[in-house]
Amino acid sequence: MCGIIGYIGKQKAVPILIEGLKRLEYRGYDSAGISVISPPRVDEQSSLRVEAGNQQPAISKNGKIDIITVKATGKVSVLEEKINGKDIAGTIGIAHTRWATHGKPCDKNSHPHCDCQKNIFLAHNGIVENYQELKDDLIKKGHKFSSETDTEVIAHLIEEFNKKFDFKNSVLAALKLLRGTYGLAIINKKEPDKIIVARLGSPLAIGIGNGEYIIASDFSAIIRHTDQVIFMEDGEVAILTKENCEIVNMKNKSIAKEATKVEWSVEKAEKQGFDHFMLKEIFEQPDSILDAVRGRIIEKEGMVKLGGLRDVKEKLADIEKIVIVSCGTSYNAGLVGKYMLEEYAGITVEVEYASEFRYRKPLLNKNTAVIAISQSGETADTLAAIREAENKGALTLGIVNTVGSTIANETMAGVYNHAGPEIGVASTKAFTSQLSILALLTIFLGRQRGMSFVTGKRIATEMNKIPKLIANILKQAKDIKKIAKKYVQYQDFLYLGRKYNFPIALEGALKIKEISYVHAEGFASGEMKHGTIALIDKNFPTVFIAPRDSVYEKNISGMQEIKARSGKIIAIATVGDKEIKKIADDVIYIPKTLEMLTPLLSVIPLQFFAYYVGILKGLDVDKPRNLAKSVTVE
Ligand code: AGP
Ligand code: GLU
Repeated sequence: MCGIIGYIGKQKAVPILIEGLKRLEYRGYDSAGISVISPPRVDEQSSLRVEAGNQQPAISKNGKIDIITVKATGKVSVLEEKINGKDIAGTIGIAHTRWATHGKPCDKNSHPHCDCQKNIFLAHNGIVENYQELKDDLIKKGHKFSSETDTEVIAHLIEEFNKKFDFKNSVLAALKLLRGTYGLAIINKKEPDKIIVARLGSPLAIGIGNGEYIIASDFSAIIRHTDQVIFMEDGEVAILTKENCEIVNMKNKSIAKEATKVEWSVEKAEKQGFDHFMLKEIFEQPDSILDAVRGRIIEKEGMVKLGGLRDVKEKLADIEKIVIVSCGTSYNAGLVGKYMLEEYAGITVEVEYASEFRYRKPLLNKNTAVIAISQSGETADTLAAIREAENKGALTLGIVNTVGSTIANETMAGVYNHAGPEIGVASTKAFTSQLSILALLTIFLGRQRGMSFVTGKRIATEMNKIPKLIANILKQAKDIKKIAKKYVQYQDFLYLGRKYNFPIALEGALKIKEISYVHAEGFASGEMKHGTIALIDKNFPTVFIAPRDSVYEKNISGMQEIKARSGKIIAIATVGDKEIKKIADDVIYIPKTLEMLTPLLSVIPLQFFAYYVGILKGLDVDKPRNLAKSVTVE
C-alpha cells in the first residue's frame, strides 16, 4: 500500500504533487519520489543536476523533452528538501510515497521506476505476483534492471510493447501480462502530453479541475483542488491529457463514467469514509488477508511458496524446536501458531513474551528456529530477543509487516505479512495477516515433515476461502454495535476460549482493555473453574468463544457453570448453532471453517465489540491513552 498522485494541467506540477504526497503519507512513508515532464528549453546556463534518481538535468538544455526524477528515502519532507531550489518547470508529473513490499526502502527502490531508455516512468501501488518470471523473460530480451522491486517489470514491459504500439496500447498489452494488484500512474517521454492511469485492486480516483486533472490513491489528495471525482474501478484505464479524460476497459473499449461530487473532509477521505482508522482496518481484512496469501498458496499441490524462506529451506527441514518471540497482539498470534504448528507440522513450539525471553536462560542451539512476530518490526523487546537468539546460534526468522524494518533486516530469513500500513494503535488487520502467514508456515513446514497432500490441500483450500467468510462477518457490524450498547456500562469482562480460541480470548480482552479502558481478563475456558469463576456474578459478563469445534461440548459446560452463577454471556458461535442461543444472552455467529482457522474468524466480532464499546464511551480509539503504535523502549 502506498500513495500515488499525478497532475496534468496548467500549473507547476511540483508543489501540487508534494502537497498531495503529504496528504497521502499516512498510507505508507518509507520513501518517496517524483517524476515531472520538463518542457523543452534551450538554456546553456542551466547545469542544475539532480542527485538522486537518474542524474538528469532539472531543465532540459537541449530543446528536448526530459523527465526529471527525484527520489528520497524517508518521509516526504526529505524529498521536499531535495527538490527545494531546483527549478522544475513542468506541468505534468507523477509522484509516489512508498510502503515497500519488494526490496528494502532506499533511493534506488523508490518509485517512480523507469525502463532502460528512461522514457517511461511509473508509480505503482500493489504487488506484481508474477514479477520474477516476467523479469527473467525481460532480462533474456536484454533489459537491464536498476531496482529490486516488482514494480520495475511494468516499465520494461511497456517499453517492450512501445517498440511497435503507441503508449496506450503498450500499457494495455503490458497490463494483460500482470498478475496481482495495481494502481498505476504512467508517463512517457515519447507522448509527453499524457498521463495514463490504471486500476486493478488498488484504489485510484481522478479529480476533474478546470483544464486540469489530479489523480490520487484517495480523495484526501484531491479535495483541495476539486470536489468532482471519478472513482476508477478494477480493469479500467484512463488516458488523461490537459483537455480530456478517456476511460477504456482492458479491451480498449470506451467507458462512459460520471463524475461524483464528494463532500468528505480531508480527514474523512484519509479514512476512506470510515470514522476511524481502526474501523477502516477491521473492514480491510478480507483484502489484507488476500494480500498476505497472494501468490503464495499452490492449492492444487497442497503446498505454499514462501520466497523469503528459500535460502533456509534445508535448514528448516532439520529444525527440532521453534520458539516464537513477540509482544501483545503479535504474542497472541504466536500462541495460535503454536496450536497450528504442533498439530499439523509436528514440531514442538514454545511461545515467549519477548520481554521475558532474554532474562531467562533459554536453551537454544542450531536446531532451534526463533521466530519474531512483529507488525512494526521495531519493537525493542522483540529485537533484543532475536539478537539474543542469534548469539546463541539459533536460526532467526521474522514474520514482519514492515519491509526494511530492523527486525526484518536482522533476522536471517522471513515472511512479510503484506497487510499494508496499520495506523490504528490497536492491531487488527496485522493480527489476521500474522495468523494467515502462520497457517502458510504450517503447510510449508508440515509438508517438509510428512504432512499428506490431502491435508495440505485441505488447509490451503480453506485458507483461500477465509477472506470471503470474513466479508460475511463484517456485515454484522451494526448488530455487534447493538450488543456493545447493551454492555457499555459494565466495568469488567471475562473472555474465555479453548484450544485454538484460547489465544483469541486473550486477544479479545487485550483489545477491549486498550481501546475502551475496561478491565478484562482472557482465560483458557477450562481454567475458569480453578479460581476465576469466583468473580462471576450478574455484573461480570463473559465473552465466550465457542465455535462448533472439537472442544465445543466442554465450552457448553463452562457456559452452564457461568449461567448457574447469574453471569451474562455473549457467545461467539458457529452459524446454525441453535443450542447456544438457549444458554447465552447474546450470540454473534461466524461461518464454519477448519478448526485451526477459526481464530481468523472469531477475532473479528471481538475487534468490533472493543471498537464500539470504545466509541460509545467517547474515546479516541485510534490513539488510546498511554500507548504508542510502535514500542521502541524496553
Ligand atoms: C496491539 O493492539 C497493541 N498495540 C500491541 O500489543 C502490539 O501488538 C505490540 O506492541 C507488538 O507490536 P509489534 O507487532 O509491532 O511488535
Ligand atoms: N510493490 C511495490 C514496491 O514494493 C509497491 C509497493 C507500494 O504499494 O508502495 O515497491
